[in-house]
Amino acid sequence: MSQHRGAWKNRWTFMLATAGSAIGLGNIWKLPYMIGVNGGSAFVLVFIACIFFVGIPLMMTEIMLGRRAQKNPFNAMQQLAAEANASSLWKYLGAMGMVAGVLILGFYSVIGGWVLSYITFALQGSFTAISPAQSSVNFDNLLKSPYLLITWHTVFMVMTMWVVARGVSSGLEKANNILIPALFAILLILLGYSMSVGDMQAAYHFMFSPDFSKITPVAMLSALGHAFFSLSLGMGSVMVYGSYLQRNVSIANTTICIALVDTLLGLLVGLAIYALVFANHLTPNAGPGLIFQTLPIAFGHMPFGNVFAALFFTLVAFAAWTSAISLVEPTIAWVVENTQVKRPFATLCLGIVIWLIGIAVSLSFSVWKDITIMFGFGIFDSLDKLTSTIMLPLGGLLMAIFAGYVMKPHHRQDELNLGIRYYTIWKITNNIIAPMAILLIFLYLLGLIG
Ligand code: TRP
Repeated sequence: MSQHRGAWKNRWTFMLATAGSAIGLGNIWKLPYMIGVNGGSAFVLVFIACIFFVGIPLMMTEIMLGRRAQKNPFNAMQQLAAEANASSLWKYLGAMGMVAGVLILGFYSVIGGWVLSYITFALQGSFTAISPAQSSVNFDNLLKSPYLLITWHTVFMVMTMWVVARGVSSGLEKANNILIPALFAILLILLGYSMSVGDMQAAYHFMFSPDFSKITPVAMLSALGHAFFSLSLGMGSVMVYGSYLQRNVSIANTTICIALVDTLLGLLVGLAIYALVFANHLTPNAGPGLIFQTLPIAFGHMPFGNVFAALFFTLVAFAAWTSAISLVEPTIAWVVENTQVKRPFATLCLGIVIWLIGIAVSLSFSVWKDITIMFGFGIFDSLDKLTSTIMLPLGGLLMAIFAGYVMKPHHRQDELNLGIRYYTIWKITNNIIAPMAILLIFLYLLGLIG
């Protein structure tokens, strides 16, 4: 029944692809503004702790589940549950992840579109000597124009689906092999630029001298939620990437490398951004507008600002592109492995569904502004909150429980292949710390704590 599955060429291409999934708008757009809004350094520390104690163990878990089954998340959970004599309901964990991926890409692609349009703004030289007021008007004009938003969202979707349609080795692997090294090269150039024209010392101080008085429960929970989002956990992206991985690769070492690279990149981008922001005496707490409103003002007042702004937004676009690919791969793998439908056609159909969701999201910034769908939130916020605060943590919690309590111990030991000391560390974090941390998020959401 099933068609031929893809596989990564080697450990390195798996690492590039998974790092490509992890490194995205989460690191470059969200993390820096969350650091700004949550008071800087203290948030950074909590975020790093969440990556180590929850993110890394759960990433190992998710890769392990995928690699053991060698199937898309739905069939993987079905097979693993059968192997453990557990309920076949577990397969719906895979299904929830696929739905989450589709919903996330619905709004992710619209933001990807903002990024693409900012590349063109920079290339047209629109940031030169721009005033704060003009910069806000620029951003508002974009958001208020459904025509522009939908056009750029469409371009971003076509880019994403084009790569996915080409399959694992000539699509995903090739794109990541080119885009991720290019992304790091651009990052180095931007860091050099920020160091020479920005205020690195102020940025460093802001990000790395901890002030514990600023650690609030809300900041801790958003750091935890963001650790999930940033490492692409809880949805099956990492599971399906793990399912294309060969048996002889160490899951622990690869995971640690990927998580470190993802976190380090987020922090370096943060430094580069804040050095420019502080050198222009701008404030760090602009929220979601940080890279679209504040940063262009900084670029606009620096030598060769438009050129470096174009480079910066290209970096963001590459990061978003490689993440978007991983959001649809679980569903495409599921269709291809269970039906006779060919990959390009499956990709086209799914692409149209996500494109339509993105159109609704685009309209929610102007004509559909007053439509609310969940707890009084608009379309964009509802999709974001439903996925990143509910579906992803729930997915992560269930994966941890499955791996830690349902799976047969010798199966997980076989797959993780760790010495007793590291296995114990994984077990404590996966079975106890991560689930408790996620339960805290839910209790907080229900208003029971905090
Ligand atoms: N991690 C990506 C980012 O930081 C987004 C992403 C890709 C993602 N795949 C995911 C988030 C799966 C959650 C789950 O932008």
